[in-house]
Amino acid sequence: MTDLHKNNPLRIHTADTVGEPLVWKPSQSKIASHLDSKPTSRTLTETLNIRLPSPIQTIRNSIIQKAGVTLDIKRDDLIHPIISGNKWRKLQGLVSQIINQNTIKIATMGGRYSNYLHALAYASHQFNWQCDFYVRGYPQQVLTPTLKDITQWGCQIHFVDRQTFKAMRHKPPRLDEPALWLPEGGLNPISLQGFAQIFNELETVYDTIIIASATGTSVAGLVKGCNDAGLKTKIIGISVLNNHSEQLQNITDLLSNPSPNWKLLAGYEFGGFAKSKPELSQFIEQFEQEFGLPLESLYSGKSFYATLDLISKGYFPTQSRILLIHCGGLQGKRKP
Ligand SMILES: Cc1ncc(COP(=O)(O)O)c(C=O)c1O
Repeated sequence: MTDLHKNNPLRIHTADTVGEPLVWKPSQSKIASHLDSKPTSRTLTETLNIRLPSPIQTIRNSIIQKAGVTLDIKRDDLIHPIISGNKWRKLQGLVSQIINQNTIKIATMGGRYSNYLHALAYASHQFNWQCDFYVRGYPQQVLTPTLKDITQWGCQIHFVDRQTFKAMRHKPPRLDEPALWLPEGGLNPISLQGFAQIFNELETVYDTIIIASATGTSVAGLVKGCNDAGLKTKIIGISVLNNHSEQLQNITDLLSNPSPNWKLLAGYEFGGFAKSKPELSQFIEQFEQEFGLPLESLYSGKSFYATLDLISKGYFPTQSRILLIHCGGLQGKRKP
């Protein structure tokens, strides 16, 4: 994580102060009229029709039986048709803060299939925020279904080449108007808040909770939530891309106190982000058929494959209670 994103999560940028953190000054509220007073987390979830708690689905097969463990899936993919999975968990704190601060313009960056941009665009549409999204790609490319939705929800897309995109991770672009700049993928301390709610929803104390990991924000959110709840549950992140040391650093930076109860596992990237291999595709197909549970190949496919693989290899002691979080992201499966 760059220094820019540490400690002071929310910043407004203007054209003449590019890259410099500014003290936030409230602008006029344009919040949708259905939120006429400061929102509580309850009014927020009601306004967006967020369905919590997400259900638990227990998975049983011969591998799990042989290992003598239990495997529950937290179906966060069912929280909402659009703001699903870890997107709601990540956005919860941010949405409250944006509304409380009367911010109306947001700018951020992401890929052409980004679940984060998709969810944020939808929330922005609901609350009448203006969004500027810097997207890695070219205007000549066919719009992905993700970008088509984003455009329909009134967000402005600026295409940037790979190099410019990379540079923006360290220095936000020059913006025409003051806007709240959000780091890519919600890599931000404010994104951790919503994960605490998961522990309020659980009736079982699990030995291990597993989640797909890309920036490491969700792992950090779970570790914090777990520590705040006074639990000894171990959090395991399954790395879905080849940025292991960067993720480790992000998690360490996001957690204000060092914590021993987490691990980031490499080895299940299948070549890198958005890459796949025949055994992953076969696994997804079989798993979907056997359990009637939808997966995609970027995140959930890899974390589910890893979990079953680890169970089959005796990674977890007998009688371990394992919770695997389904982070949603199924919208990214749609073909242009
Ligand atoms: C569906 C899905 N699962 C998992 C992740 C990984 O989350 P994080 O970036 O918090 O590690 C993401 C997003 O980045 C995602 O969209």
